[in-house]
Amino acid sequence: MSELPTSAVIDLQRAHRSVRKFLDTPVTDAQLAAIIGAAQHASTSSNLQVWSVIAIRDAERKARLSAAIGNHAYVTHAPVFLVWVADLARNAELIKAQGGEPATFHLIENTLLSGLDIGIAAQSALLAAESLGLGGVFVGGIRNNPAVLSAELGLPKYAFPMVGMSIGVPDPDEGTGLKPRLPLTGVLHHEQYDGDRWKPSIEQYEESYEGYFAGQGHPGRSWARTVAKRLGTIEGMHGRHTMRDSLREQGFDSE
Ligand SMILES: Cc1cc2nc3c(=O)[nH]c(=O)nc-3n(C[C@H](O)[C@H](O)[C@H](O)COP(=O)(O)O)c2cc1C
Repeated sequence: MSELPTSAVIDLQRAHRSVRKFLDTPVTDAQLAAIIGAAQHASTSSNLQVWSVIAIRDAERKARLSAAIGNHAYVTHAPVFLVWVADLARNAELIKAQGGEPATFHLIENTLLSGLDIGIAAQSALLAAESLGLGGVFVGGIRNNPAVLSAELGLPKYAFPMVGMSIGVPDPDEGTGLKPRLPLTGVLHHEQYDGDRWKPSIEQYEESYEGYFAGQGHPGRSWARTVAKRLGTIEGMHGRHTMRDSLREQGFDSE
């Protein structure tokens, strides 16, 4: 293929790596406002803006949250820990103030809509943070214990803690690199889905995957085995197999 077009944004996207070790340098209120303000400009379904984000800096609260999800230094030691909340509570109030009822909030479409909007906004925020020289990591692990998270954060009905995100100045000693992705030919289809499209490139991917983890001191890893462990067993869900009950607790019946 001829040389691909590029841009500062594409370069930044291609330089992404999750950061799990941070310097003690704080993330300022101005940086936080710039990051979240940028994320607010991301596309949002029907402009419903169904998310809120809670910025946590208090060391004891971070420690309690971290303990509730298995104790992760990247939560406890993050200068700021963000919890991205699917927030239909605001929209419920708006509907009720007009004499209506949140008559569709029990539908899975609105759970999906919230999750999609949050994913889009949160990734926009992470990219904005990276553009400022910060780094971070998504923390889906908060869904290992949504009840404790909801209680700790005082979430009302129709508000669900969807994903966390640690943000800070990357510790240069962390030493992680760019984790390889599947070759483009494995994921980009043309006109119709082709179920065999990824197969010719999988060996090549396994090689680069193994090489990456060997370089990190973990030889012998395989992407296929990782997928099987994470998605092929209930244990791999780390408690998230009861997610519909957790969602229901917060008013997201997901029917
Ligand atoms: C929705 C989501 C949830 C994630 N949850 C966690 C998590 O709980 N803990 C963690 O260490 N990394 C988590 N990650 C980071 C992924 O493991 C990481 O993005 C992936 O392995 C690719 O590595 P890279 O981001 O360094 O390229 C999460 C990523 C996403 C998108």
